[in-house]
Amino acid sequence: MRSSLPLVLLLAAFAAQAGEMEDARKRWAESPHGPMLERILPPGFEPTDLPEPKSRGARLTARYCIQCHNLANPAMHDAAKWPAVVERMVLRMQGKGNMGRLMAEMMAGVEAPPAADAAVLVAYLQRRAQKPLDPRKVPEAYRAEGDAFRLACNQCHVLPDPSRYTAREWPAVVARMEKNMEWMNRVVGSRPLPGEPQLKIEDINAFLARHARKPRE
Ligand code: HEC
Ligand code: HEC
Repeated sequence: MRSSLPLVLLLAAFAAQAGEMEDARKRWAESPHGPMLERILPPGFEPTDLPEPKSRGARLTARYCIQCHNLANPAMHDAAKWPAVVERMVLRMQGKGNMGRLMAEMMAGVEAPPAADAAVLVAYLQRRAQKPLDPRKVPEAYRAEGDAFRLACNQCHVLPDPSRYTAREWPAVVARMEKNMEWMNRVVGSRPLPGEPQLKIEDINAFLARHARKPRE
């Protein structure tokens, strides 16, 4: 049964990773700050969804980045944004960030990456980052017709490049973003304020459709 050895090792590795994940999820879910941590990022993006899943960058992301909250999709932020985000997160893992006390209470078992790992993490996240909208190519985003899109879609990350998807593909992404908004906003438990801009899904989809990638015939 020589040939089954690699499979056994692979399964063991999966089990170990799943175990680590379980531990991490338990840690933040059971923390007194769990409800706050839970809302930092939406659920649904799993380590198996990471691009280049076998690369060192993906493995380090899965190892370090689910210790306190749900996993971040590398495509959430553009390349320019990631270094500062990772720097802030590494400080938190070292117990030095703001919210020091909150983090300190969770620190038992939280592992901080050495500088070399942090560099690999940044490079990986940047390689798989969001491509921002180029205002020279889509100046309409900054005109009245782009208002609904611009106001809604730059709250958590840069404005995404509309040519990332086709007109048919965008509505599903926008619907997921609507869920992300609900999930991430519930942290503050805010009620819609009178006069607060409302989400105009139809306008957003129409704008994206106009500037979307053309489907290949
Ligand atoms: C020690 C706990 C901890 C670890 C580990 C951690 N984070 Fe965070 N993360 C936080 C906290 C607390 C917040 C909310 C406050 C903030 O944004 O700094 C947050 C927020 C975020 C956000 C949303 C805010 C934004 O700027 O978009 C992203 C994205 C993020 N983390 C990515 C990561 C990545 C990538 C890693 C792995 C390199 C990571 N986190 C590891 C504690 C952690
Ligand atoms: C409440 C915060 C928030 C808002 C507002 C938001 N997003 Fe996102 N966005 C995220 C998060 C979190 C991710 C990573 C997880 C995911 O992909 O769902 C993401 C990832 C993305 C991605 C990359 C992932 C992919 O599937 O290609 C695109 C594109 C995107 N958002 C487009 C939009 C658009 C368009 C809007 C406006 C309708 C928008 N976002 C508004 C939080 C937000």
